[in-house]
Amino acid sequence: MHINVFCIAVFFILAIDLIQSQSYTAVQPGGGQRVHALPFQNGFYRIILRGNQTNKQFTIIEGVVYMNEGARLHYHMFEDEMFFVTNGTLQFYVDGDQFCAKAGTTVYIPRNITQSIRNINSKPVHVQILFAPSGRENFLEEVSIINDNPPINATLANQLALRYGQVNLGEVSSWKDLNCVHDSSTLLKLSFYLMFSMFLSLIFNADFF
Ligand SMILES: *[C@@H]1O[C@H](CO)[C@@H](O)[C@H](O)[C@H]1NC(C)=O
Ligand SMILES: *[C@@H]1O[C@H](CO)[C@@H](O)[C@H](O)[C@H]1NC(C)=O
Ligand SMILES: *[C@@H]1O[C@H](CO)[C@@H](O)[C@H](O)[C@H]1NC(C)=O
Ligand SMILES: *[C@@H]1O[C@H](CO)[C@@H](O)[C@H](O)[C@H]1NC(C)=O
Repeated sequence: MHINVFCIAVFFILAIDLIQSQSYTAVQPGGGQRVHALPFQNGFYRIILRGNQTNKQFTIIEGVVYMNEGARLHYHMFEDEMFFVTNGTLQFYVDGDQFCAKAGTTVYIPRNITQSIRNINSKPVHVQILFAPSGRENFLEEVSIINDNPPINATLANQLALRYGQVNLGEVSSWKDLNCVHDSSTLLKLSFYLMFSMFLSLIFNADFF
């Protein structure tokens, strides 16, 4: 009797183990863990893949950057970083250079290189960010608690960042006016169409009326 119960228990433990030792991970849209990554009221990111799912090779997070709420100037000593803009247009500052990055753009920033991003549009920008090796998720979980409880103690936040190899340097001193706005092709087409129909109506007015 006891042996049977024991056997059944062992069977279930093995079965659960088999289910859990899946060889891959698929994260659905909107999945992952929500963290309060940035010191703004709506500065929430998602941890998509953690080090314990990637053999510590990398961490992937998903960010939403609202107008004027990008990460300030900083660099990472422990990780290289890669951005993939999935929706909207960001302005990047990397190692003294500045450029626009519209949806579809990939930006790779090795460790120790100063960087900042900003969004000048009212439409939020969506960005997927990879850190290699992993570990950023632990910082994000800790800083989330600080950002959840304003007013934020900047000294404390910077000390925490430093423990995870992130050196914060404040605001970029001079953002260039690069006009990094969202793709306005739809708006352009609409205005061409309007101009064309005005032109036509002028001709028709002249010819027939
Ligand atoms: C990875 O770590 C998180 C947070 O500590 C934990 O919730 C999760 O179960 C772990 N996943 C694996 C596959 O070990
Ligand atoms: C980008 O975001 C806008 C809303 O701001 C949405 O209408 C559009 O479908 C999104 N595009 C993609 C490719 O997700
Ligand atoms: C990054 O900077 C730190 C501290 O300034 C230094 O110890 C480290 O060697 C640098 N790493 C690389 C890859 O340059
Ligand atoms: C902010 O954090 C620092 C470092 O932990 C601490 O010394 C200081 O007392 C804190 N300031 C406030 C106002 O809590």
